[in-house]
Amino acid sequence: MRMKDKVALITGAASGMGAATARMFGREGATVFVADLLDREGAEVVDGIKKAQGKAHYLHLDVTDEAGWQATVAEIEKSAGGLDVLVNNAGISGSAEQDLYDTAAWNRLMGINATGVFLGMKHGIAAMKKRGKGSVINLSSVSGIVGQGYIHVGYNASKGAVRLLTKAGAAQHGRDNIRVNSVHPGLMPPMRTSGRTADPATRAKTLKGVPLGRAGEVDEVASAILFLASDESSYVTGAELVVDGGWTAV
Ligand SMILES: NC(=O)c1ccc[n+]([C@@H]2O[C@H](COP(=O)([O-])OP(=O)(O)OC[C@H]3O[C@@H](n4cnc5c(N)ncnc54)[C@H](O)[C@@H]3O)[C@@H](O)[C@H]2O)c1
Repeated sequence: MRMKDKVALITGAASGMGAATARMFGREGATVFVADLLDREGAEVVDGIKKAQGKAHYLHLDVTDEAGWQATVAEIEKSAGGLDVLVNNAGISGSAEQDLYDTAAWNRLMGINATGVFLGMKHGIAAMKKRGKGSVINLSSVSGIVGQGYIHVGYNASKGAVRLLTKAGAAQHGRDNIRVNSVHPGLMPPMRTSGRTADPATRAKTLKGVPLGRAGEVDEVASAILFLASDESSYVTGAELVVDGGWTAV
């Protein structure tokens, strides 16, 4: 069991890659806290983990709400004794926006995708310091490394912010025995909030530039997150793990 005795919090874990990661952590022996805005879907993920003999709990958390973060971390410390792993996964897409410079969309994207990760690091790392160890995994994207012509600029900006927040966190908390890494998925199953990136014609065009010639699967990203969360990656911090079938290599 690669996550035995570890307490993990995953945001946005009611859906997609967050849910896949929660299930994988559950199978590997972690106590998993599934956090999301989608209470029914989040509770279903928890039920599935429990049915497979895992340990899981659901917590309602809006990642933009600082008081919510404080309450979430306090609840985990009270019920599980501390926090070992934080996966800042919650996010929204910028590919449904018509105006790629819409100001309200910029504020939404930066609020959830960047400020949400900042708040998670602020409160999650404070808890990990009390434990004397920890691992933070931040979900960026290939869109945090290169630009696309069809996504609101705030998505790229927010994912770029996550990439550098990660490196700053690694630089500042190495001596606390806390590692901070980012994961950069490429073409994956569409997000709930996807627009153009869910369009079959756009996906087919994108695939032409992906050396492995196929989209990724959620468990392929969950496996990368598991590696960074487990002690197998004990000397890895500040790294960006790209899981994109080679998209950004060419
Ligand atoms: N799917 C892709 O193609 C892709 C590619 C690269 C990176 N990513 C990133 O991976 C992460 C997971 O994406 P996914 O594909 O699983 O998407 P998804 O839409 O399936 O899941 C995202 C989850 O985040 C939750 N969420 C949204 N806003 C929230 C908030 N304010 N507070 C708490 N939870 C909130 C949603 O309810 C949802 O359950 C995101 O950060 C995304 O940007 C996705």
